Amino acid sequence: MKILLLCSGGDASGMNRFIYEIYNKFKKETYFALAGFTGLINGEIYPLSKVIDENLKNSAGTMIKTSRCPEFKQRKYFHVALENAKKFDYVIICGGNGSEKGAKELFDNGVKTIFVPGTIDNDVLDSFYSIGFSTAVKECVYAVDNIMPSIRSLNNACLFEVMGRYEGDIAKAVNKEVKADYVVVEKKDLDYNKIVNIILKKYTKGQSACIIVRENIEKIEKIANNLNKAIGLDIVKYQVIGRTQRGGKPTEEELEMAKKFAFEAVNCIKNNKIGRILVDKNMKMFVTNFKE
Ligand code: F6P
Repeated sequence: MKILLLCSGGDASGMNRFIYEIYNKFKKETYFALAGFTGLINGEIYPLSKVIDENLKNSAGTMIKTSRCPEFKQRKYFHVALENAKKFDYVIICGGNGSEKGAKELFDNGVKTIFVPGTIDNDVLDSFYSIGFSTAVKECVYAVDNIMPSIRSLNNACLFEVMGRYEGDIAKAVNKEVKADYVVVEKKDLDYNKIVNIILKKYTKGQSACIIVRENIEKIEKIANNLNKAIGLDIVKYQVIGRTQRGGKPTEEELEMAKKFAFEAVNCIKNNKIGRILVDKNMKMFVTNFKE
C-alpha cells in the first residue's frame, strides 16, 4: 500500500505530531508531497522516512512543509497534480477550508482522499476543532498576560490583533480566557463610540482596557489612531500578536487531538473509508463525506 500525506495552507502547531503518528503506523508505506499541493504539482514526492525526526514530533511547524498554492486551481496544474495523486492508494490532506476544497477536487476525480482539519483559524465547516487552534489561543493569552502589566503601569489601553483570517474563533476564545473588556469579531463590532466609552470608563478609574480584535477588519494602527483622536489623548496602544500563534509549542490538548486525528485517519485507511474527519461539539471525531 502507498499512502501520500501533505499539509496545505498555513502551518499549524500539532501538524508534526499528526505526521509522526501516521508514519509510525504505516512506516515504509508513507510518502509526502513537499510543501503540499506545490509538491504534488512539481512531483516533489518522497518517502516520509526521509524527513521524519522523532525529536520534532512535539514541536510546532510541519516536517513536510506547507504552502499556499493558487496554481492548483488552474486546470493544467491540477491535471498534473491529479496524475501524481493517482499513484497512491490513499491521500491524506491536512489544512484549512481552502485546502479542503483542493481535497474535494481530488476526491471528485477519483482519488481516495482523507481530509483532516489543520489550521489555527478553526475555519473548517462543520468541525468544532482543527489542529493548531488550542496552541494559537494559548499563545495569544500568553501575549496578553505579558503585555497588560506594562499597559497598566502606564495607564494606557491596548488593542490586541489576533489571527483567524475571516473567522472569529481565536478572538472569541481569547476574549473569554483573558476576560477582555471588549472583542471585535466582525466589522459591525467596530463601534467607536462604544469602545471609547469602555476605554474612558477604565481610564478615569486608573484602569486599563484590554480589547481583542480579529485581523482583517481594519488596520489595527488605524483603529488605535481613530480611538486616540476621539479620546483626545495618546493612550491607546496596539499589539499584533502575529506568527507566534502558529509557531507556539503545542499544548497537551493539541497533541492529544493530533493523535486522535491520526488514529481516525489510520482507521479510515484500514476500513477503506474516505472523506472528512471532523469534530463535533462534544469534541468527538466522526468521518463524513465531502460536501457537495
Ligand atoms: O491561515 C492561517 C493564518 O495564520 C491566518 O490566520 C492568517 O490570516 C494567515 O495565515 C497569515 O498568513 P502568512 O503568515 O502567510 O501571512
